[in-house]
Amino acid sequence: MLIPTATLRAMPRIAQLSRLAPITVRRTYATSRPPRVLVTGSLGQLGSSMVNTLRAKFGRDNVVASDIKKPTDVQRNSGPFVYADVLNYKSLDKLVVDYGIDWVVHFSAVLSAVGERNPALGLDVNINGFQNVLEVAKNHRLRLLSPSTMGAFGPTTPKDNTPDFTIMRPNTIYGITKVHMELLGEYYNEKFGVDFRSLRYPGIISADTPPGGGTTDYAVDIFHAALKDNSYTCFLKDDAMLPMMYIDDCIRGTMQLLEAPEESLTQRVYNVNACAFTPAQIADEIRKQFSSEFKMDYHPDFRQQIAETWPHSMEDNAARRDWAWNPQYETSDIVAVMLKKLAPVYQNHQVVSQMAAETAVAQ
Ligand SMILES: NC(=O)c1ccc[n+]([C@@H]2O[C@H](COP(=O)([O-])OP(=O)(O)OC[C@H]3O[C@@H](n4cnc5c(N)ncnc54)[C@H](O)[C@@H]3O)[C@@H](O)[C@H]2O)c1
Repeated sequence: MLIPTATLRAMPRIAQLSRLAPITVRRTYATSRPPRVLVTGSLGQLGSSMVNTLRAKFGRDNVVASDIKKPTDVQRNSGPFVYADVLNYKSLDKLVVDYGIDWVVHFSAVLSAVGERNPALGLDVNINGFQNVLEVAKNHRLRLLSPSTMGAFGPTTPKDNTPDFTIMRPNTIYGITKVHMELLGEYYNEKFGVDFRSLRYPGIISADTPPGGGTTDYAVDIFHAALKDNSYTCFLKDDAMLPMMYIDDCIRGTMQLLEAPEESLTQRVYNVNACAFTPAQIADEIRKQFSSEFKMDYHPDFRQQIAETWPHSMEDNAARRDWAWNPQYETSDIVAVMLKKLAPVYQNHQVVSQMAAETAVAQ
C-alpha cells in the first residue's frame, strides 16, 4: 500500500523509518519479564558497578558480565561471567543467542592515554569492536548503550558549557573513535532501527575500581597518594579545568538512559555534566577535608596536551529534560566520599594513623 506524502510527513520519524527501512520490528524484549543484559568490558572501572546495579534491578542471572581479563573469585561468584572479545563477531553472536540477550551495555574500550600510546589497539577495539557489537545489535534487534566521552570534542570546540551539537574535530585516537561510534550508532538507528543510546561522560571518579588509563585518572590517584604519602605529583598542570563525575551519578544516569522509554528520546547521544575542577582546586579541597599538610607538585606529561583540547563544562539540558538526568555529587562531596571509602584501605599507613590519632586527641 502506498502512503500519501502528507500522511507520511505527519508520522513520527521512527514510524516513517519503519515504513521505509527493510528491518522494521524494533522491540527488544517481552515486557512481562526483565531484560537479559550483556555487559562487555565488565571488569573495567565502570563495569563492575554497572553489573552490580543491573543485577540488583533485573536479577543476578539476567545480567551476563564479560571481559577478556580474568575475574576475581568475588566477580566470578556474583553471577554469570563469560570470556568475550569484542573483536570476535561470531563469539558475540553466539553469546547473544545462547543467553537470549535483549540489551547490551558496551563498556569495552581503549581509553585516551592508552590510545595515544597504542593507536593501533585503540582503533581496533574502539572501531572494529564497536562495529561488531552494533552489527550483533542490528541482527538480533537489541537495545545498545555504548558510552561516549567529552574526549569526542576537540581543540576547536567551544570550551565552556559545550552544547550537544557543536564542532567535533578531536585530535586523539580516542576522540576520533568515539565520534565514529556516535555517528555510526545514529546511522544504524536511522537506517536499521537499532535502539542505540549513548551519553558523553566526563572524567569518572571511583574508589572501588581503578581507572583504566585516561587523562582524568589523576583525580582518582590523588586520593590514594594523599592517604598513603600526604603528597602527590600531578601529570596535569595546576589549572587544567575538566568536567568530572562521581561513579554513583555515572551509573545512575546510565541506568536512566538505558531504561528510558524510546519515545522520550529526542536524540541518541547526550552530554551529561556534574561538576568541574582543576588539580589545584581538588588539592585545596583535600587540604580542607583531610590534611592541611597535603603537598602537590606538577610534572605535566603528554596527557596535559589531551586535557587542553577538552571542554571545561558540558551543557546537558536535553539529558535533564528527556530522561531526568540530575547529578547529586559536587566536588566537595566527591572528596568527602573518596576519603571516607579509601581511608580504611590505608589505615595502617603512617599518614592515616597519624590523622586518626590527632582527631582522637582533639576530641
Ligand atoms: N572512566 C572514565 O572516566 C570514562 C570517561 C568517559 C568515557 N568512558 C567510557 O566508558 C566506558 C567504560 O570505561 P572504563 O573506564 O570502565 O574503561 P576501562 O579501561 O577501565 O575498562 C575497559 C574494559 O574493556 C576491556 N577490553 C579491552 N579490550 C577488549 C576486547 N577486545 N574485548 C572485550 N573487552 C575488552 C578491558 O579488559 C577493560 O576491562 C568506555 O566506553 C569509555 O570510553 C569512561
